Amino acid sequence: MNQKRCNVFTGENAILDYLNPESQIFTPLVELPKVLNPFYDDGVRIYAKLLNTLPLTNVKSIPAFNMLKEMNRKGELNDVHTIIENSSGNTVLSLAVIGRLLGIPNTKAFVSYEVLFGKLQMLQLFGVEPLVNKEPICPDPADKTSGIYKAKKWGKRKDWINPGQYENTDNPDGHKKITGPQIFEQLNGDVQMFCAGLGTTGTMVGTADYLKGKSQKIKTLGVIRTPNNPVPGVRTRGLLKMIAFNWKNYVDFVEEVGTKDSFLESLHMIRHGIVVGPSSGFALAGLLNFLKKQKEKDLLKSFANKEGFINAVFICCDSPFPYLKDYFLYLDKSNFPEISNYEILIDKPDQNIKLPGSVNIEGYEIEPQQAFSLFYKNSKEEVEKKLNKGETEFVEKSSIIIDVRSKDEFDHFHLPDSIHVDYENFISRIKTVISSNKLVKRKVLVVCSLGLKSNTVTNILRKEKVQSFSLKGGITEWSNLDLPRWKPGTCLKNRC
Ligand SMILES: Cc1ncc(COP(=O)(O)O)c(C=O)c1O
Repeated sequence: MNQKRCNVFTGENAILDYLNPESQIFTPLVELPKVLNPFYDDGVRIYAKLLNTLPLTNVKSIPAFNMLKEMNRKGELNDVHTIIENSSGNTVLSLAVIGRLLGIPNTKAFVSYEVLFGKLQMLQLFGVEPLVNKEPICPDPADKTSGIYKAKKWGKRKDWINPGQYENTDNPDGHKKITGPQIFEQLNGDVQMFCAGLGTTGTMVGTADYLKGKSQKIKTLGVIRTPNNPVPGVRTRGLLKMIAFNWKNYVDFVEEVGTKDSFLESLHMIRHGIVVGPSSGFALAGLLNFLKKQKEKDLLKSFANKEGFINAVFICCDSPFPYLKDYFLYLDKSNFPEISNYEILIDKPDQNIKLPGSVNIEGYEIEPQQAFSLFYKNSKEEVEKKLNKGETEFVEKSSIIIDVRSKDEFDHFHLPDSIHVDYENFISRIKTVISSNKLVKRKVLVVCSLGLKSNTVTNILRKEKVQSFSLKGGITEWSNLDLPRWKPGTCLKNRC
């Protein structure tokens, strides 16, 4: 029997061999059908590179394996008992499993306090100990309070190690050894475009380094996240400034994509047999945006091969299952089939048991459209017109809108005529916040990024007898619906 062809792994190191991306058969490269590729008739062939089909089901198992392998080769893992890394997902899960097989029993991860609870459970499932850190999901490595900085410091303890995915060149080198050569060979070198989401930028830097080494004609597209639009694993332009790798040297074009488009593209792929998560949808959405712009400018031809075709590859990072709840949070109900006879489920005797600590927000969550009509005096068009004229008062005196995101996020953009009160401040000085803003006498709308922190604040306010509401889906959903926002950018032009 040909073990490699039959995909059999045996012996003492069978599992390690099975997890080693280098000893795997190539991950699939699958061409998208017309229904997922609106540019098919323009000669564009879009290929999904399915890194989600790796044994650890994610893109990060490539750098994780390569970083640990190289450390092991250099003897840096001798006597190590603990891996510490800043990561709330794929990297640390992969490090934990590979590390355990290499004889390192413990893996700990600094994770942002903004992480979803489901993600923490995922870490626990893989035996990773999460250390919750007070910082945003994509932290600044130079900041001493950041998980990246702390992980680096803890990694210097005796018999601890910090692989350091944000600056360890064995992260991109893994992709240079595996992802780049596979794609090149799978298309017989006939590749015109490569597209990937940018997180640590390891996937882009390593793969592009290989592909561009083969042909400078291969163009690369890096996809970044729109600010205030969560997508797991990828960064905004601002957050990329903190990355050590020189990704700009490898990226020819950049496209920005938001939460909703990422989840929608992922949903379309799932339903047509490409079962991949939101950051894969994000990469595809970026590629489609780019192709649309090039087509509008009549520039598609400039990317084509001699036969007039463009072979474009995008990276699929992981599966949708860890993010199941998020699809229902970010996408409209109309995207999902209805459940018939749901009332039978609700009537089941054990169905309404509340979990300890769960938030009872029922009735106080308010849809963005409804919140707009309840809190604003004018129509959407009137508010937008008045905003452009420099007017600032839109909310009745008997009402107030409070934004509990960070000051930076608030300054970036916010609901017109809303005020900022930091979440921590709100929670720790609740009585002062209530009295100084006369909240007991007013109708209050609480706003955060996604509608989770605002639920907590609304609950506390309700206990204090304040008539408060939590904006459902947060400012993310508000923006998706294109309801009026105050943006300092437009303000500069119009009124400052
Ligand atoms: C799901 C997911 N997508 C995309 C990325 C980005 O990949 P890279 O860090 O190589 O830029 C990551 C990185 O953590 C990820 O976890």
